[in-house]
Amino acid sequence: MESSQPLLSLLILQALFISLSSTQAASTNLFQEYIGAEFKNVRFSDVPINPNVDFHFILSFAIDYTTSSSPSPTNGNFNIFWDSDNLSPFQVSSIKSDHPNVKVALSLGGDSVGDKCAYFKPSSVDSWVQNAVSSLTKIIKKYNLDGIDIDYEHFSADSDTFTECIGQLLTTLKKNGIISFASIAPFDDHQVQSHYMALWRKYSHLIDYVNFQFYAYDKGTNVSQFMRYFKTQTSNYKGGKVLVSFISDGSGGLSPDHGFFTACSRLKSQQELNGIFVWSADDSKANGFRYEKQSQALLASTH
Ligand SMILES: *[C@@H]1O[C@H](CO)[C@@H](O)[C@H](O)[C@H]1NC(C)=O
Repeated sequence: MESSQPLLSLLILQALFISLSSTQAASTNLFQEYIGAEFKNVRFSDVPINPNVDFHFILSFAIDYTTSSSPSPTNGNFNIFWDSDNLSPFQVSSIKSDHPNVKVALSLGGDSVGDKCAYFKPSSVDSWVQNAVSSLTKIIKKYNLDGIDIDYEHFSADSDTFTECIGQLLTTLKKNGIISFASIAPFDDHQVQSHYMALWRKYSHLIDYVNFQFYAYDKGTNVSQFMRYFKTQTSNYKGGKVLVSFISDGSGGLSPDHGFFTACSRLKSQQELNGIFVWSADDSKANGFRYEKQSQALLASTH
């Protein structure tokens, strides 16, 4: 009896190592799709889901503005601005129980609210964080969500204030077990990068993915430009998992029918493909999610 104890501990340790290493390996098959901002009646179940990828839907958006006819800032009290008729708590539960590889996140901010820019506009760090933790905890629990994405694009506060508000929000949501992953969604604009890179310098340990909006570069970007942009952003967000991306309305960046998948294959062969995300399911519905299928097949392939 006594001599079996060390053997048992050894087996437990081995099992622990095996499960740890398999979790880490799985995270490079990451596919993410933003959904719900455009009210085009798209549902989770419309989108093809390959069982061999980690699939994240990102609900767009929760915004700290009022939902009135002329929305105004609320200092961290978030409301739902996505199509919650088609993307309800019940539908989140259904898609997750039908597909064990699916997780669902929400994104904060976005470009606009109504027909105006959505601004990050806290009154103070402490009051914003307190309101944000409380309102987002309610929404995340109600919808049974797993993660959060930060996509503020317009700022009425300096980068230090942004850093503290978002850093403290993520710290608390992770510490309380409300979310299991977090991402940020910057793009190549001076003010945007100064805010997100300041956040990265202090709080990168809380940020699992950098959803860099490569489609915000010029329409007609070619493969060699794209590879260079990827390298630049990987060095800006050093140590981060920078995901590549395309926009499905064809309005910018390297498009899927002009080399996006060539670039992805090249990165994959260099073991630098951390994942792919798409803006957005709302627009992809029109072409039957053709490039979502191709993206996931590429991520799931073993060579
Ligand atoms: C990509 O675009 C740049 C800038 O327009 C151009 O200089 C370069 O030759 C292009 N590369 C290819 C392979 O077409």
